[in-house]
Amino acid sequence: MPEEVVKLIAAGEVIIGPFSVVKELVENSLDAGARNIYIKLKDGGKKEITVKDDGCGMDREDAVLAWERYSTSKIFTTQDLLKISSLGFRGEALPSIAQVALVTLTTSNGEEGTKVKLKGGKILSIEEISVPKGTQIKVEEIFYNAPVRKKSLRSAGRELRDILEVVMAYSFVSLSTSFRVENDGEEVFFTPPRSTLIERLEDIWGSEFRKSLIPLEFKMGDISIEGWVSRPGEGKSYPLQFFFVNGRWVKGKIFKKAIMEAYASFMGKGYFPMVFLFLTLPTQEVDVNIHPSKEEVKFKDEGKIMRIIENGIRNSFHKLQDEISRKGEEKLTLTPSPIQSSFSFKGVAEKKVEYVVDEFTQVKKAYLIREIEEGILIIDQHALHERILFEKLKDGISKRKVEKKNLLFPVTLELSPVEEKIIEEHSLMLEELGFELEKFGRHTFILRSMPQLLGNEDPLLLIAEVVGKLKDSFRKLEVQELMEEVLKTLACRGAIKFGDRLSSQEMERLIQAWREEKEAITCPHGRPVFVLISWEEIEKRFQRR
Ligand SMILES: Nc1ncnc2c1ncn2[C@@H]1O[C@H](COP(=O)(O)OP(=O)(O)O)[C@@H](O)[C@H]1O
Ligand SMILES: [Mg+2]
Repeated sequence: MPEEVVKLIAAGEVIIGPFSVVKELVENSLDAGARNIYIKLKDGGKKEITVKDDGCGMDREDAVLAWERYSTSKIFTTQDLLKISSLGFRGEALPSIAQVALVTLTTSNGEEGTKVKLKGGKILSIEEISVPKGTQIKVEEIFYNAPVRKKSLRSAGRELRDILEVVMAYSFVSLSTSFRVENDGEEVFFTPPRSTLIERLEDIWGSEFRKSLIPLEFKMGDISIEGWVSRPGEGKSYPLQFFFVNGRWVKGKIFKKAIMEAYASFMGKGYFPMVFLFLTLPTQEVDVNIHPSKEEVKFKDEGKIMRIIENGIRNSFHKLQDEISRKGEEKLTLTPSPIQSSFSFKGVAEKKVEYVVDEFTQVKKAYLIREIEEGILIIDQHALHERILFEKLKDGISKRKVEKKNLLFPVTLELSPVEEKIIEEHSLMLEELGFELEKFGRHTFILRSMPQLLGNEDPLLLIAEVVGKLKDSFRKLEVQELMEEVLKTLACRGAIKFGDRLSSQEMERLIQAWREEKEAITCPHGRPVFVLISWEEIEKRFQRR
């Protein structure tokens, strides 16, 4: 194979498209200690990508050497490889970019300024110039010499989206650096230096977005995670998720899997939680050097990492649930406001009227509401009870003791051949759930018991619904998921309904159960269990603000 072709193929492994040019150049700017990074694009990067920084710059020798393969100023011994702190370390990026485009480097280390022009990996000219300290790299006509790759570039809008994802990712790690992206003369992204991640997230997506996130902080041994994740029930129709391992942005597949599991019953179907997650662990537990563009990481113990992520997210949910339910428990002492008392007549002894709020009221036979310090707390009685039943059933299953209620009058089920088959296939699961079924002739079964927890429901309707659920989903789901689906169905059926009037005792019992149930933030389908309307929001409605 001719050397040129080998080089092109190798370059293609690192430079997949405009976004990877941006990624490599931004990494280099950050490694150079840049405080400000400015990215100028034409046509979503397809025509031109310029990355300009105010980092340390290069001297003339380095400005020329940097274009040679494996010339990196960042690794000195093999030992260094194990504790890489800089983003780049292979010395492959600049030569790879130069291989497939027209490149102009302008750099100065504050003492000497240099301009180097290249085409197809070959240096065309080296000039001495005078520029401020920093580096600017202009990359034009990407893939001009690789027609197939050039053709496979996507629309400018799509390429721009991928570039923005890259820039965002780096902006989440390098908080004290400002980032600006301009496309065809229009500013499309800007974030000033910040001291916290949440401020940066707010810069980009606004204050409503910020409110839909909760903090994540969790540690197990020498592995820790932190960041921000969706409040349960608050997701997007596409995954807005960023993962970092020891400060390095990765496309962790196992992260996605762990997150799906953590949010399984806390997010509606078709929605994805927002996740900004930073994992920190000892370098010997991870191998960053697995992929040429360093995007995938390999862990020594994937299972452990998944457990930490899942537990960490659940832990954040529990903290949120604890906080709110404690508020729902506080006794509020209300005293008349000072304005009122200033109207009192002289001579009349000022009486201090106090009253205490600590009870929920049912409204619309559907919601339980009460005042708390921050505003008005509203609980959805059905969603809450559904979650409580779901968790109790799940707990029973995992401990293999769902209590059964024997039916005084066993019910007879007439089933279609398909349904009959389903029941036979899942007889073990049904048994575990507390449904004791006995075959009684062709297509006929006798139901002898049902789950005690749902003892007030009509057994025939209950089992019919379970069979219906199994019929709908058994081909699509694994056993574990199928069980969860069935549990959701049972919980929904057995829960207090919208429209059920609750006695004060029933309400009290339900609220008590809420306080004890850590997972009661959403119902098992991912709808919120409670909503807090802040005084601020109420005051806005009344135009007091
Ligand atoms: N923006 C920049 N500022 C200062 N030096 C840079 C910049 N970009 C690249 N360099 C120098 O060029 C070298 C080669 O860069 P690159 O090919 O990305 O390899 P790596 O980042 O893996 O070292 C770097 O090691 C660094 O010395
Ligand atoms: Mg680099």
